[in-house]
Amino acid sequence: MGVSLTAPRLLQAARGEVVDRPPVWMMRQAGRYMKAYRDLREKYPSFRDRSEIPEVAIEVSLQPWRAFQPDGVILFSDIVTPLPGLGIDMDIAEGKGPIIHSPIRTSAQVDHLHPLDPEAALPFIKTILQALRQEVGNQSTVLGFVGAPWTLAAYAVEGKGSKTYSIIKNMAFTEPTMLHQLLSKLADAIAIYMRYQIDCGAQVVQMFDSWAGQLSPQDYDTFALPYQKRVFQQVKATHPDTPLILLVSGSAGVLERMAQSGADIVTVDWSVDMADARARLGKDVKVQGNLDPGVLFGSKDFIRDRILDTVRKAGNWGHILNLGHGVLPQTPEENVAFFFETAKQLNALV
Ligand code: CP3
Repeated sequence: MGVSLTAPRLLQAARGEVVDRPPVWMMRQAGRYMKAYRDLREKYPSFRDRSEIPEVAIEVSLQPWRAFQPDGVILFSDIVTPLPGLGIDMDIAEGKGPIIHSPIRTSAQVDHLHPLDPEAALPFIKTILQALRQEVGNQSTVLGFVGAPWTLAAYAVEGKGSKTYSIIKNMAFTEPTMLHQLLSKLADAIAIYMRYQIDCGAQVVQMFDSWAGQLSPQDYDTFALPYQKRVFQQVKATHPDTPLILLVSGSAGVLERMAQSGADIVTVDWSVDMADARARLGKDVKVQGNLDPGVLFGSKDFIRDRILDTVRKAGNWGHILNLGHGVLPQTPEENVAFFFETAKQLNALV
């Protein structure tokens, strides 16, 4: 179609085209390490307001774009944002993360969940994504994101974040049928939500299965992987050209399994050396990552060395440069700026 001639770099790389340097963005690039975000948070103390009032969410999403011109601009939102649209009420508490007021513990509660109607439940998503596309044009790629079934089920069942995942594992190992019903409903809702984000302008979508690394590989195969596949298959059936990224935190033990999900790009965290990840995944799988976010506390020389090391190990095809997880709230903004500047000079440095 010739479109790819003008497509932004991240989208080209995500499609497998050869680009002049790896595109770069940062997970959680909008947020607490930025003074502009902290200032705005004083005016809008509720996370739901910051992410659901379109003008505010657009402003937050664009703060890192204006400061650093990353190759990817991600929608400011949260993985639990669609849950109220299924009948799961939630809030996001300062410093704690998502809180589910009535956690899902019975079959009756699972039966009562309703299908997601994104036009009705999430109209702000359309306004935000359209505005981001308008603002960045062909200079950057707009990313959408969703939570994966297992990770959203973990919040819905536990009621909040957890260290042990005792409640959902209890359900998994004593009442698996109930959990499979919940995971199925979540998977179908997430597929609808992903398609909606794409229809509204998201050019690449990342699915966060943040807590799937808490499962043993055999349980990952039962409770995480089939539902990742179910989402990706449904979205690929209608939107085959949109690249899809998968993230699992603490993924070293399930890296090859991640590639079986149908994702186009596998996020690699820093528990795996990028050269080992390439060897384990094979040359056809695209990768994203994988610096330790803590590297950004180091000196500029240290940051540059780690970027070069990652990029050399990843090779010159199918790599999106990123951290292995979100940027940490205490990170100096000038080190984030240095990370982006260095990444953008890479064809001169490597
Ligand atoms: O990457 C981006 O810039 C987009 C923003 C984004 C947020 N949440 C905003 C947010 C993204 C991609 C997410 C995804 C998300 N939310 C995940 C998957 C990523 C991961 O970390 O594995 C998860 C597990 C959540 C659930 C959640 N929401 C947590 C664990 C927290 C943090 C609790 C804390 O305070 O440390 C939140 C709240 C949240 N979502 C914040 C941000 C910027 C921090 C709260 C704030 O800024 O007021």
